[in-house]
Amino acid sequence: MAAKSLKDDAAIENLQDIGHPDDHDYVVGSPHLIHRQLNEWMVNTIRAEVIDILETKGRARVLEIGAGHGTFTDHALAAGAEVTLTEMSRASAGLLQRRYAHNPAARVIFDPAGNSDLIAAQRFDLVLCISVLHHIPDYLDAIGKWVSLIDAGGSFVSFQDPLWYPRQSRLNLAADRGAYYLWRLGRGDRIAGIKSIVRRKLGHMDTRNPRDMVEYHVLRQGCDEQAIAQQLSTSFATVDVLPYWSAVSRVAQRAGNALGLTSTFGVVAQGRRLS
Ligand SMILES: C[S@@+](CC[C@H](N)C(=O)[O-])C[C@H]1O[C@@H](n2cnc3c(N)ncnc32)[C@H](O)[C@@H]1O
Repeated sequence: MAAKSLKDDAAIENLQDIGHPDDHDYVVGSPHLIHRQLNEWMVNTIRAEVIDILETKGRARVLEIGAGHGTFTDHALAAGAEVTLTEMSRASAGLLQRRYAHNPAARVIFDPAGNSDLIAAQRFDLVLCISVLHHIPDYLDAIGKWVSLIDAGGSFVSFQDPLWYPRQSRLNLAADRGAYYLWRLGRGDRIAGIKSIVRRKLGHMDTRNPRDMVEYHVLRQGCDEQAIAQQLSTSFATVDVLPYWSAVSRVAQRAGNALGLTSTFGVVAQGRRLS
């Protein structure tokens, strides 16, 4: 199986918490929040999914895993969904709880273990994961768990995870890494950045270091989009893997798009079958 587990999953849990403190800025380093074209595509996909479910079922119960500061939650709520949000970071969960305190359509769950056990008894029409799968040691197992919470006819939508490196062309991999290094070296705290890049290059990422673990996907070479699609195809009528290019810098984003490169993927699975 492609998804490699860390020996100590608890380390990742703590690091999600430490890595997303009170003053964490989710936009920095997040192409899907920086680039309007990417952001609109994801928002429109989520809106269309919610509206479709509302029109079919009369209500849309959404489970959003790892909601961050609620960037996509706002759009699901605006489209008419009832949203249950989970967050592994205490600071982000606190911010979300304050933000949606007076919105009865939003329910925020602080899930420090990140195992979704706190919502095991509920059912949903749509599960959303935006830029989350690559943070989870065994993402196939996690997807299986969330899918079991989806009612008949429901959907699973995920965006912003790195394509499985061993399946990528050399050009795509080189462009992805080049774009990352250029961006990283152009930021502050260069020394720490260079050390992190060197560990990344040598394959010696430090599982106790939040800076390295934000990049946990590099350690295990991206996320296996084909394994995810195969698993989802056992539970959904249709599964689409959507490869695209994403880079933090605007120049790299434009260049990659113009060259038709890919580095990242989304997946949309529709028509949940219960048997
Ligand atoms: C890169 S951020 C993305 C946030 C938001 N979805 C966005 O796109 O702006 C990943 C978030 O997922 C949270 N997270 C990671 N694994 C999680 C899990 N198993 N359950 C709940 N939250 C998780 C982290 O705490 C972090 O806030």
